[in-house]
Amino acid sequence: MYGMIATWRMSVEGITKGREILKNKGCSGDAIESAIIEVENCEFYKSVGYGGLPNDEMEVELDAAYMDGTTFDIGAVGAIKDFANPIRIARHLSKEKVNNLLVAEGAEKFAHKEGFERKNMLTNRAKIHYYNRLKEIKEQDIKPYSGHDTVGMVCLDENGDMTAATSTSGLFMKKKGRVGDSPICGSGFYVDSKVGGASATGLGEDLMKGCISYEIVRLMKEGHSPQESCEIAVNNLDAELKERRGIAGDLSLIAMNNMGEWGVATNVEGFSFTVTTESQEPIVYITKKVNEKCIHEVASKEWLYNYMETRTAPLVRK
Ligand code: GLY
Repeated sequence: MYGMIATWRMSVEGITKGREILKNKGCSGDAIESAIIEVENCEFYKSVGYGGLPNDEMEVELDAAYMDGTTFDIGAVGAIKDFANPIRIARHLSKEKVNNLLVAEGAEKFAHKEGFERKNMLTNRAKIHYYNRLKEIKEQDIKPYSGHDTVGMVCLDENGDMTAATSTSGLFMKKKGRVGDSPICGSGFYVDSKVGGASATGLGEDLMKGCISYEIVRLMKEGHSPQESCEIAVNNLDAELKERRGIAGDLSLIAMNNMGEWGVATNVEGFSFTVTTESQEPIVYITKKVNEKCIHEVASKEWLYNYMETRTAPLVRK
């Protein structure tokens, strides 16, 4: 049995590549790395890798993480600039005995020394988004911080080995040096091959308050299904945040257990995600809330078409 689950529609091309690796008896680590690279390399996915949205100084600072659920190796980078594939660096760091999470200049120094590809990750398209947002903030009451669609994945291979990985440019217009949940073990991701894995997208500052990926794996370990685990963890954190702080940020979680069963929960409308298993080609689903339950439907052809049209449409500076 093999399988992969990932946040957002943007993961489908990567999941398709990863599935080929799993189908050909490749390992979970190679499948998930190659799937994340595919998302990082696409300039139209504006919250991950190349073309990612910049911070408030118009710099693209990226976060990424990799975890091996069998060995518990973890590697992560935070606020790294000018490297093509943060996920490669994160996986490489997971092999080190210490210094597994490096940030900013330290991460860049390490990546340079280890020969990783340098690349200016700020595209003209991202610059237009930046200038347009500055104008909107000035003219209307628009919050700078919307836009935090992390790609988070969980992967199971035929040997029963599981991995989890994330990659993101984090919050649009974030402060220089801000790091979200994505490179933080237990918050943005967690995986244990004896149980299963989970990964998050949403507002990092709130996701971290519940160590939510770890919480989902803990619930699966207690015997809950991936779907129950996601729903319990998301509903609890959402309620706690609202009770204590009056407001909860976006929280969307995906999970898969070591039998290839999967689950999803979110406190937003219309969260999309991609799943594949041995018996199922990659499918994009969209969530819907019905009576406090998170249900999902297969994305229509029209929705998928519009998604790509919107992403690739020409951008003009306002
Ligand atoms: N969840 C991504 C971030 O907040 O940076």
